Amino acid sequence: MKANTITKESIDKLVRTFYPTILADPITAPFFIAKLGSDINSQMWQEHLELLSNFWAMQALGDLSYRGSPLAPHFGLEGLGKEAFERWLELFEAAIDKVYEPSSGAFFKERSHMIARNFMINLRISA
Ligand code: HEM
Repeated sequence: MKANTITKESIDKLVRTFYPTILADPITAPFFIAKLGSDINSQMWQEHLELLSNFWAMQALGDLSYRGSPLAPHFGLEGLGKEAFERWLELFEAAIDKVYEPSSGAFFKERSHMIARNFMINLRISA
């Protein structure tokens, strides 16, 4: 059943729906494999999923458990460009549509586009 409210549980589900598709995609996978390896069950990946779940809980719920600088790790990703960002957003939208009813999903769509635009400006990737 799709969620019609945003909770920490549904955010966990979103993150765990999204990253396997990121790892299965030829455009986005290499960036993640280079940093975290290809086994989503590894401890490194599990920590990343938890971090991302906390990040989105901060964005959507004002939860304070994420402490980090979201942009920083993206500076080190060689070859990161517009194509990868567009695919990332497409896959995120597909995961959102699997987990949420449109009225709740809209938040994540808007916010992810906003952040991606901001990241691209900071990374000097032209939109
Ligand atoms: C093609 C686009 C993107 C790629 C390839 C990418 C890749 C990565 C990688 C490799 C890491 C570091 C993992 C690690 O070493 O622990 C990371 C971290 C992260 N990414 Fe992305 N990312 C992309 C877009 C985005 C977007 C659009 C967002 C937000 C809307 C986002 C949010 C984050 C956050 C919150 C972290 C954790 C930062 C921290 O360490 O606190 N990323 N990303």
